[in-house]
Amino acid sequence: MATSTDASVSARAAGTGRPAGTGRPGGTGRVAGTGRAALRFDGARLWALDQTLLPWREEELELRSAADVADALKRLAIRGAPLIGVAGGYGVALEVIASPTREALDRASTLLRGARPTAVNLARAVDRVRAAALAAPAGEMASAARAAAGVIHAEEEAASAAMAVHGAALLSGRRRLLTHCNTGLLAGPGRGTALSVVVELADRGELDGVIACEARPLLQGARLTVWELVQLGIAHELIVDAAAAGLIRTGAVDAVILGCDRVASNGDVANKVGTYGLALAARAAAIPFVVVGPTSSIDPEAASGDEIAIEERGADEVRLAGGEPVTIAGTRCRNPAFDVTPAELVSALVTERGVASPLSTASISALLA
Ligand code: MRU
Repeated sequence: MATSTDASVSARAAGTGRPAGTGRPGGTGRVAGTGRAALRFDGARLWALDQTLLPWREEELELRSAADVADALKRLAIRGAPLIGVAGGYGVALEVIASPTREALDRASTLLRGARPTAVNLARAVDRVRAAALAAPAGEMASAARAAAGVIHAEEEAASAAMAVHGAALLSGRRRLLTHCNTGLLAGPGRGTALSVVVELADRGELDGVIACEARPLLQGARLTVWELVQLGIAHELIVDAAAAGLIRTGAVDAVILGCDRVASNGDVANKVGTYGLALAARAAAIPFVVVGPTSSIDPEAASGDEIAIEERGADEVRLAGGEPVTIAGTRCRNPAFDVTPAELVSALVTERGVASPLSTASISALLA
């Protein structure tokens, strides 16, 4: 079941170039004009804005089971590393609320852990909620799972606020930023990751504007980041992914800022496909390449990026754009959803605990200590 509204983005748009310091439309983590969060749990069901429909339609999905949540994750109705983790935690809780047994817990955990392989937030949140449920006294499994999922949600929201402050301090004076994919409130509780820094800089009057890459094949930049920036009233321009390196070379931006799905213990970063190319272009142009993500995205068990599982998605995501064919039916395709950027190309990793720079095994373990 879903609820919907016909309100179009343009009807709700705050416009671009909003003067700094005039207040941000919409509360933290909520969509301006609707009051809706990207994800909310009402104690019995999980409600999620269906991101596959944005920016054209705002519909909330009502999720009642781990299978519902796993399906929403697989088709990217819920996406973005921190939000994926929070949803996974609630997915486990939903299952044990319905059936407070060890079997249900294990079934839900396996299903959800496998929904998306790259963002480590998912496995970590699922494991945390499962452990809390197992540790609970008999009869309290469901309430323990519900509480643990809520704690993860609250932690990620707090992390977003802290990353915004750390990131804005780091990037002060860099007034023109380029970003990739979607890293805002649709990707993480609060204001998300990299976009939380963008918002903080705008609020401080320290931002001239953002260039957003479209992020083919599923267009999280064109559909979701632009949608968020419109609602935030932050000046922005959209480019095709292939334009980014050339614009960076000509000095069109002062820094690249984006998120991460998993950071290995040596600082290698897995993020939306196209990130590696942006890092190379930023290095060639000698501008900062800044990754923003909570410590829940760091995987101490992955020694390097080579150990991070990169999700390969279906060929039709490449063959089609907006549902329309862009090539000959049946064309063989490759569709890695993420790539790995070596640590030496990353200027800094901004987390809720502070900034690691340069990235190395030592600086990452200092963050986690
Ligand atoms: O496939 P997606 O849309 O889930 O990929 C999202 C990204 O790659 C983001 O950059 C990443 O999750 C970090 S932002 C919160």
